[in-house]
Amino acid sequence: MLDIEILNLTIVRVFCILAMQGLSFNQAYLPRMYGGSRRSGGTLEKIYTMGGRRLVGEIALSGSKNATLAILAGALLPAAGETVLTNVPRISDVQIMCDMLNRLGVKTNFIEQNTLVLDSTNLVSHEAPYELIKKMRASFSVLGPLLARFGRARVALPGGCDIGARPVDFHLKGLEQMGVTITVEHGFVEAIAPNGLVGAKIYLDFPSVGATTHLITAAALAKGTSTITNAAEEPDGISCAAFINRLGGRVEGAGTKTIQIEGVSQLTGADFWMDSDRIEAGTYAVAAAITGGDVYIRGAIEEHVEPATLKLQDSGVDVVFDRGGMRVSAPRPLKATNIKASPHPGFPTDLQPPFAAMLTLADGASVITETVYERRFKYIDELARMGADLKTEGNIAVITGVERLTGAPVAGSDLRATAALILAGLAAQGKSEISGLQYLDRGYEKFAEKLLGVGAELWRADESSEAGRK
Ligand code: UD1
Repeated sequence: MLDIEILNLTIVRVFCILAMQGLSFNQAYLPRMYGGSRRSGGTLEKIYTMGGRRLVGEIALSGSKNATLAILAGALLPAAGETVLTNVPRISDVQIMCDMLNRLGVKTNFIEQNTLVLDSTNLVSHEAPYELIKKMRASFSVLGPLLARFGRARVALPGGCDIGARPVDFHLKGLEQMGVTITVEHGFVEAIAPNGLVGAKIYLDFPSVGATTHLITAAALAKGTSTITNAAEEPDGISCAAFINRLGGRVEGAGTKTIQIEGVSQLTGADFWMDSDRIEAGTYAVAAAITGGDVYIRGAIEEHVEPATLKLQDSGVDVVFDRGGMRVSAPRPLKATNIKASPHPGFPTDLQPPFAAMLTLADGASVITETVYERRFKYIDELARMGADLKTEGNIAVITGVERLTGAPVAGSDLRATAALILAGLAAQGKSEISGLQYLDRGYEKFAEKLLGVGAELWRADESSEAGRK
């Protein structure tokens, strides 16, 4: 009885706070799932921040986006049995991948918020249409598994991207080496493997994450053994290999530069737990650091996040790991540091924008060098609109720390850029309004809600609503 009263009181209190902010519960706590940021009556949804609050408390991480996407493509492989994935992040990229799998005949069912059951027994199509591929390039990786199941596949080529050219030549070359005949026509890859896929020795010119995981899944059912040399060492590849092994596959060496895949004749559905998202961990670590806060990030895995946390420590931030996660506490002022974004175990390119936001307030000059993508500095001009001092030349950005940022309207141009601008908004004086939530929702589960839980002042609303105009 007492518990119910306390619960009622809490609910009343939450609604009172929201009413004071002019928000509905939905606006504040539930990001628009799967549709990207909502436009109603031609208006745009944004996140609004009032900067200056020190973040204190605990944030629980969701499952890894990139590992989940690679594993969902691999979930096409079992011709028998159900696959049960736990700790799956509820983000729009995962929904797009599920839509793709449904189109191919896979049954997908979220039996709990983060538990997904898949059944790939009866595939109905070997064709992946452009309307789905264009929404998310990672869905291109259904090509290899479709070839493994049907001996043929027709998959639309993914288009360009805001952070640089992102070709799929390594994917196609690797498949050709595995005996696949490929023709590219009318924007589609037509691929045929009349005699099935055969094991091959594949060398990647660059340790591409997507090509590595795609070729692991393609080789899992091939005849003979495949070797991928100069493979990506990212934790997402380790998860993908572990998943294939859970299904009955034989993958060795994931997480190193040489991966061996011994093809098996059949894979069977199995249970698998998704590791936490290391990029999400790094993003919230920066949220703590940029606000001079003290946040425990539950679920952070030390080996996965170390390339980023070592750089936080360079900036004077305290990071202490224990079995459950990591505690990030920050002094003021932060110190400048240099960062070079490169393949794992280098500093992750996906954390380059959040770290740049943090370094705008560090004491001294920092240099960021980007080696993975050609154009990943689009957000820099937006940070400058908040009073940051930054310059770019090619793939290098020089950031000179300033005393303070001032709130401004800014626009995110990709997933990590939008997150970085929101973090800058949390540290800036006054109100900021950040658009680009259609990108944010691709990769962060409950972003605003998690930050609200550690004391951030932010809300999500249509720009024309009362909450947006406030
Ligand atoms: C993955 C991640 C993304 C991250 C990136 C680098 C997913 C869903 N996304 O993307 O968040 O930023 O790794 O860590 O896992 N390249 C080629 N030819 C190819 C493939 C890649 O030239 O066939 C180049 C790309 O243009 C890019 C570089 O290799 O410059 C790295 O790309 P890659 O590692 O493949 O990134 P993704 O797997 O697409």
